[in-house]
Amino acid sequence: MSGDARFLRAASATAIMPGAFEHVAIAGHDLLICNVGGAFYAIENRCSHQKKPLDQGRLVREGIVCPFHGATFDVRTGASTGFPKCRSIRHFITRVVGDDVEVALT
Ligand code: FES
Repeated sequence: MSGDARFLRAASATAIMPGAFEHVAIAGHDLLICNVGGAFYAIENRCSHQKKPLDQGRLVREGIVCPFHGATFDVRTGASTGFPKCRSIRHFITRVVGDDVEVALT
């Protein structure tokens, strides 16, 4: 992790059930906080295919599926895993402190 990253509170851990995600805006970032089996991941809310938002998509296991043309991204890494194949989207390091999901932003 970059030395100048700082963790900011993004969501309540108990408010996001496994298999769900929450759309948050924090420090100028438009993010999705995703719960995959009790682990939290943060990705940018923007599909790399045609720059559309992902927050109306579905989380299927570790993949967020874009509602527009079906591109899928692994929320753990941001990698494109389906069709249409796209470049990766940004993902962010998270940690849980008490009930807070925090995201490292630079
Ligand atoms: S905009 Fe997401 S798949 Fe096309």
